[in-house]
Amino acid sequence: MSKANILVVEDNEDLGQTLGDVLRKEGNKVSLALTGEHALTVLEKEIINLVLLDINLPDINGIELLQQIKEKDPDILVIMITALTDPKPAVNAMKMGAYDYLMKPFELDELKLNVAKALETHDLKREVKLKSKEEYPDNELFGETKPIRELKKLIQIVASTPKTSVLIQGESGTGKELVANAVHNWSRRRDKPLVKINCGAIPESLLESELFGHEKGAFTDAKILKKGLFEMANNGTIFLDEISSMQMSMQPKFLRVIETQSFRRIGGTSNIQIDVRIIAATNRNLEDCIERQIFREDLYYRLKVMVIDIPPLRDRQADIMPLAMLFIERNNKEIGKEIKGISPETQERMLNYKWPGNVRELKNVIERAVILCSEDTLLLDHLPELRDGVSKLAPSNEFPSLANDDDSLEAMEKQHIFKVLGKNNGNKSQTARILEISRSTLREKMKNYGIA
Ligand SMILES: Nc1ncnc2c1ncn2[C@@H]1O[C@H](COP(=O)(O)OP(=O)(O)OP(=O)(O)O)[C@@H](O)[C@H]1O
Ligand SMILES: [Mg+2]
Repeated sequence: MSKANILVVEDNEDLGQTLGDVLRKEGNKVSLALTGEHALTVLEKEIINLVLLDINLPDINGIELLQQIKEKDPDILVIMITALTDPKPAVNAMKMGAYDYLMKPFELDELKLNVAKALETHDLKREVKLKSKEEYPDNELFGETKPIRELKKLIQIVASTPKTSVLIQGESGTGKELVANAVHNWSRRRDKPLVKINCGAIPESLLESELFGHEKGAFTDAKILKKGLFEMANNGTIFLDEISSMQMSMQPKFLRVIETQSFRRIGGTSNIQIDVRIIAATNRNLEDCIERQIFREDLYYRLKVMVIDIPPLRDRQADIMPLAMLFIERNNKEIGKEIKGISPETQERMLNYKWPGNVRELKNVIERAVILCSEDTLLLDHLPELRDGVSKLAPSNEFPSLANDDDSLEAMEKQHIFKVLGKNNGNKSQTARILEISRSTLREKMKNYGIA
């Protein structure tokens, strides 16, 4: 039986206590309410998975309360308790969404069984939901080389802590999201949700209600209660991707949630406690962002309790060939080819290429090469960007030419050099002419920026 937050609503205090004790012994967290009013305030403040609800309450009719609970959150499981010998009200309750009912007097074993069954069904349902959402089976960190083994060891250490925040740093395409998945999947939170938030992608106007949710009636369009991402991540992990693009105005709000592990729905009057691990990822240097005053220092220090640095692919040459072979195999399977290897000349180029798009670029390059190749060995001709020494991916993909307001001059310069080089097929003289700098300056800049 999985652990759950259970609310017992029972006006007979002795019975309530006994039920609570039994359920606590099974590993659940139990709150007790003697009245319907009290039950509603608990539901307001805490995230409850299951309610044990007496039909006969002093203030509100149990059936009415059931209705309110289901309106609030249809996912909450409700088991009715009834003293009446007439099962009709109980049957009615089940029609209205109660999971089951218990007739007083009942054995405590019967209670345990009922609750366990309800929670199991609930878990199963969630699992099915999660499984169907899984993107690819291949989202696993691959590699047995020293750098990857060290990375995995570090992930294991982090994953074994209950809720230490993690900051993952690495250039675009190095595998930050894979690492975040691994931290979650190797932790005790693995059966709970991993909620991913791309901080740059949600428009600011929506961000608050996306994150915090809102109460029914909080504003004109708020017809029903909406749970925010923080609430959905309860007991699991929140992955804040591209943390550096989070608006300055949102940052203190995040910091507060991370520090207090609680938040308020929009229009809500009380704080809701949550238990989440925060993983953040960035491909920018956050210290630079602090200097440029687009990132708060206090948030930075709160996040960087544990830092995982993923080196760029060019700095871990040992990974290039094994990863390339992995991607060849996967693509072979997918499109029914039987490519066995890579020509020595191509391997040589691959090892010396700078891979500005890192593993993602390698993956894409190999995918295209496998499609183009009709022999059983990949040749340089199948990897045009390596043959010509210029990453065609970079200008279109990794370095969008539209500069952001908060891009540094350096970043823009790098993007621009990339773009012009790409347009001129890597021809340095022509590129230098267009940029109105000398060839040697261009060479120098390319070296500094790691442009092949
Ligand atoms: N060690 C690895 N084994 C297998 N695949 C990998 C590995 N590292 C990265 N990849 C693959 O490379 C691609 C990019 O990885 P990911 O999306 O995690 O990078 P990222 O650092 O989050 O990039 P970005 O900064 O652009 O968001 C993915 O398709 C991922 O599956
Ligand atoms: Mg990513």
